Amino acid sequence: MKTLKTVLGLTAALAVTLSSAAAFAAGYPERTITMVVPFAAGGPTDTVARLVAESMSKDLGQQIVVENVGGAGGTLGAGRVAAAEPDGYTVLLHHIGMATSATLYRKLAYDTLNAFEYVGLVTDVPMTIVARKDLEPTDLKGLIDYMKANKDTVTVANAGIGAASHLCGMLLMSAIDTPLVTVPYKGTGPAMTDLLGGQVDIMCDQTTNTTKQIQGGTIKAYAVTSPARLDVLPDVPTAVEGGLADFQVGIWHGIYAPKGTPSEAVERLSKSLQVALKDENVVARFAELGTAPSPEADATPAALKAKLEGEIARWKPVIEAAGQFAD
Ligand code: MLT
Repeated sequence: MKTLKTVLGLTAALAVTLSSAAAFAAGYPERTITMVVPFAAGGPTDTVARLVAESMSKDLGQQIVVENVGGAGGTLGAGRVAAAEPDGYTVLLHHIGMATSATLYRKLAYDTLNAFEYVGLVTDVPMTIVARKDLEPTDLKGLIDYMKANKDTVTVANAGIGAASHLCGMLLMSAIDTPLVTVPYKGTGPAMTDLLGGQVDIMCDQTTNTTKQIQGGTIKAYAVTSPARLDVLPDVPTAVEGGLADFQVGIWHGIYAPKGTPSEAVERLSKSLQVALKDENVVARFAELGTAPSPEADATPAALKAKLEGEIARWKPVIEAAGQFAD
């Protein structure tokens, strides 16, 4: 009798759980979702986020509002989301810095591989080695010679330890075996303002932030970090063409939610991301900025999880060899 009562009780509890999950899924999302961008407004991550958020908002029928939380190379914004209520109404759009920061920072406010749910990959953006337009060197070899000859005065902008611009700058300094003076910003949006004004000399930044400036001649481009030249920047050689062997880096982006976010929300967000990545406006704007949406199969939780785990393992020895850490 007791067993039957227990079984009936468990069955009733399961039925209530299933019905509440179904009710949540049916109603989700019922209000505005916040998408945290861990860098300043106007930069490449912000550009990607606003394009994707606009399209996902249409699909979801609820507004996704982008909130810029800059600082500490993206780790402050990531920490904000790790600590957020896991209710499906806060997400993070971040890039390769999610992986590199796991090694760069000895004390992170979150456990990178256990603090988030995975929604999916968004795009993989090439980088460009650029400079203020009146910097004397005319090609990458000349720039490398210039950096070596002026290593104590030439300045390299980045968005803090853990940013993509920091990673690319670190790889560049390792490749030329020359430490350079770096100037950190809360994002490469504000850094671009100083590059345009001549207050900083060099930056390695994503095409989503540099393509229009390069095309307009307001900054000088020395190389792209993609395996081949880009259709939008046909006259800019690859770093490998310019003499930096194996110098290739792509800035992949993903969307995350706090650990414990209901699976129904994660699945709905992933489906909406897949719709957004096929949105003709998103595809066209990405193409104008030198990038492309991730394939549908990569805009999934499993693909982002695998990417993050693989990239943490990939960059750990590279970062340890460079010896640049954040305390
Ligand atoms: C940005 O959005 O400001 C950039 O992604 C910063 C960086 O990662 O270099």
